[in-house]
Amino acid sequence: MSNILSDASLDQIFRNARTHSAWQGQEISDVLLEAVYDLAKMGPTSANCSPMRVVYVRSAQAKERLKPALAEGNVGKTMAAPVTAIIAYDLEFYERLPKLFPHADARAWFAGGSPDHVRDTAFRNGSLQGAYFIVAARSLGLDCGPMSGFDNEAVDREFFPDGKVRSNFLCNLGHGDHDQLHPRSPRLDFDEACSIV
Ligand SMILES: Cc1cc2nc3c(=O)[nH]c(=O)nc-3n(C[C@H](O)[C@H](O)[C@H](O)COP(=O)(O)O)c2cc1C
Repeated sequence: MSNILSDASLDQIFRNARTHSAWQGQEISDVLLEAVYDLAKMGPTSANCSPMRVVYVRSAQAKERLKPALAEGNVGKTMAAPVTAIIAYDLEFYERLPKLFPHADARAWFAGGSPDHVRDTAFRNGSLQGAYFIVAARSLGLDCGPMSGFDNEAVDREFFPDGKVRSNFLCNLGHGDHDQLHPRSPRLDFDEACSIV
């Protein structure tokens, strides 16, 4: 049986978690970056297809490769972040289905099929995995700064030149400077966003 998480955990993952743009200087270890992925990968995807691919951009050299693709307002925060994750999706995710969904020939559902269906599946499930990634990072004590303000094609040319993987969004990672946050914007109330029928 599962337990409800503690209020402290729910605060950390959701209620007090913010989108950060200013960073304290600490480095992030390979071990922590691996731990984030190892939690995020457990979230569900259709047919367990797991299309998300992640490039952790950490070195100054790699950051310079990313910089020209960034919207002006995202340059400073991204260059200052200890790590920027490129959350991407693999359009040939189905090649891994013999491992990921071994009890059926799920590869055949996609290989050679409608490119729209393949792309929709990769984007939907890759986006879900991107959300799991943010929750995983917060669960492990990191702060996130997700961004879609960048030139996807430029990032893809630079980091995924074979054309099989496409960028979805970027996510700065680090320990945020809470003093630099603006007040939290409101969310829609339950009755504005949900119905029970
Ligand atoms: C997919 C995605 C893309 C975003 N793109 C940008 C961006 O390009 N630049 C930026 O400054 N903030 C960006 N944001 C940040 C959002 O504006 C922010 O998460 C939202 O206002 C909620 O802020 P809060 O988490 O502090 O409550 C993005 C967030 C998400 C999830």
